[in-house]
This record gives sequence, structure tokens and C-alpha cells, in this order.
Amino acid sequence: MNAVPQAPRAPQHDDDVLVADGLTKHYDVRRGMFGRGVVKALNGVSFSLTRGKTLAVVGESGCGKSTLARQLTMIEPPTSGRLLIEGEDVAGASHEQIASLRRRVQMVFQNPFASLNPRKTVEQTLAEPLTINTPMSATERTERIAHMMRTVGLRPEHAKRYPHMFSGGQRQRVAIARAMILEPRIVVADEPVSALDVSIQAQILNLFMDLQEQFKTSYVFISHNLSVVEHIADDVMVMYFGGVAELGDKKTIFQRPRHPYTRSLMSATPAIFESERRIQIKLQGELPSPLNPPSGCTFHQRCPYAVERCRVEEPKLREVDGRQVACHRAEGVGEADA
Ligand SMILES: Nc1ncnc2c1ncn2[C@@H]1O[C@H](COP(=O)(O)OP(=O)(O)O)[C@@H](O)[C@H]1O
Ligand SMILES: [Mg+2]
Repeated sequence: MNAVPQAPRAPQHDDDVLVADGLTKHYDVRRGMFGRGVVKALNGVSFSLTRGKTLAVVGESGCGKSTLARQLTMIEPPTSGRLLIEGEDVAGASHEQIASLRRRVQMVFQNPFASLNPRKTVEQTLAEPLTINTPMSATERTERIAHMMRTVGLRPEHAKRYPHMFSGGQRQRVAIARAMILEPRIVVADEPVSALDVSIQAQILNLFMDLQEQFKTSYVFISHNLSVVEHIADDVMVMYFGGVAELGDKKTIFQRPRHPYTRSLMSATPAIFESERRIQIKLQGELPSPLNPPSGCTFHQRCPYAVERCRVEEPKLREVDGRQVACHRAEGVGEADA
């Protein structure tokens, strides 16, 4: 049995291809020479992913995005909470079911230099999932690989090349081809353009969007960059310190963010901010230590809106103005300058 999730249940619809319900991940770590500590990397994260849509997950480094990605892709089991993939509960699944679920959820990593095996040609890299998971003949595999390479904008005659013979952008195309070749229902992409030249980022984002159109794939798209998120997202989940700060559709959140943290992220992204002419909020200080979390709201030490209540009472995620937000003061945030 799972632990009872602390966070509110995520809404469930037929169109939900993935539902996370109170996902929590704690790591035991050594602390100095004597003690041990617990890093609360993820604390009760709940959301649902709609079929064929993109949920962008945004937040600064260390807020738990990659930890979330590892839970969603079943690389690691959660400490508590539930994960449903196409209605199937991962926790109760047999080995065969898990294998089938893993095929349906693929991952693209930030760094294609690290995520591709340097000793394998593109053809070998793309053939592997087909050999393991399908009864295809060698000829069928070759055709499928050539087709997939074309689909992601690579030339099939480069199939015998090794990763180092490609540019960073092309290498990420290979990684995307590998993730897509079994036509998964869900792709979790963890900062997939952050390691690329700015001039290449838009091309790769557009490739993600074309592939989604073609294969109806659902994406969890992780980024620390709000202008990337604005380009690709249908829904946006802003994470702070292992929790959900704000969650809703892109337009609602970008038009009027209700969490002070979302507002400060937007202040730090000039391209978005200029047209909106909101008051600049500077993020003060750094993320608190996950070994020693603050009382009350985890953002209160950095928050220009914080009052006494924020220091003592943890805000629960609740509905305000058409989105979910975890802030006691959400109603007042952005009122003066909206
Ligand atoms: N295996 C691990 N053991 C201990 N702490 C971890 C581990 N993985 C991540 N963390 C910690 O969990 C927090 C969230 O990390 P991460 O998910 O990588 O954040 P992000 O991807 O948003 O930068 C960080 O404080 C990080 O140091
Ligand atoms: Mg990360």
C-alpha cells in the first residue's frame, strides 16, 4: 500500500495520460562525519498530464525537477505518493507491467554528449529499442531507423556515424529519435535544449512540437527558462523547493502570475517581461538548504509579500483565479500593477 498522499488529489479525466498524486522523494544522506540527514527533494507533487499536450515544469536549479523526472520515468521509486500511467498504478504493477509502462514513457536528457553511447553508431543506438521490444526483422528495422532519422531532421545516410561526428543539435536529434522510435505515449524531457547554442534551441523546440503533432505524444517538458516554456507549454507547473508553487494553463499563468515566486521568475526573463511591463521583483538570497527547510512557506525568506502567517503556516495548493497556487497572499499578488 502507498502512504496516504498529503497533497490534494490531482483531478482525473479520461484524457489524463499520466497522473501524479502526492509524489514525494526523500534521500538519506551523510551529514558531516557523524550524523545523517534527509534531503526532501520532492514533497507531495500532484498534477495530471493531458493526452497530446505539454506540461512545462519550471523552477530554478535544485528545486527538484530532475528528481521528478526520475519518478515519472520509473528510474527511481518514490518515497510515497502515486503515479498512474494511462490509468495503471505503477506501485501495484508486476515486472511485465512495469516493462510495458517503461516503453510508454521515454526520456530525453539535457546533455546528448553524456546520454548517447560514444561507441555506438546512430543505427546501433536506434536499433536497440526495436530489437528488444519488437519482432521486426533486420530489414524492417533499417527502414524504420531511416524513416525516424528523416523525421527528426537527420540524413539516413549518416546512420553509420558515431555521436562525436555530429554537432550538439544533431546529437540531440539522435537522442530524440531514440526516445520516439517506439512511439511512446509520454516523453519526459529534462532541460533538453539547455546545453545547446541559443541559435539551435528554437529548431529543437520546433522539432519537439512537430513530433507531438505527428505522434500525439504527451510531454513533460522541464526547463529553467521561462521563454522556452512560453514557446512550448500548454500547461505550466512552477516548482519551488520540491513543491508546486503554481499550476495552471500557460495563458492564465503568464497573464497574471499569482505566486510571488512565479512573478520573480518572470522578472528575471526580460523578453517576456518587457511587453508586460510588470514591476520588477528581484529574487533575494538563494534556495534554502534542503537539509534544513524553513518553517511555514518555503519561499517566505525570499518573498517581498511575506507576512507573519507565511513564517508559521505552510500554504496548501488551492484554486485562485483559475489556477492552483500555494500562497497565503495569492489574491493580492500583482493587484497593484496588473
Ligand atoms: N541522489 C540524491 N541524493 C541526495 N540528494 C539528491 C539526490 N538527487 C537530488 N538530490 C537533491 O535534491 C534536490 C533537488 O535536485 P534536482 O532534482 O536535481 O533539482 P533540479 O533538477 O531542479 O536542479 C537538490 O537539493 C539535490 O541536491
Ligand atoms: Mg535538473
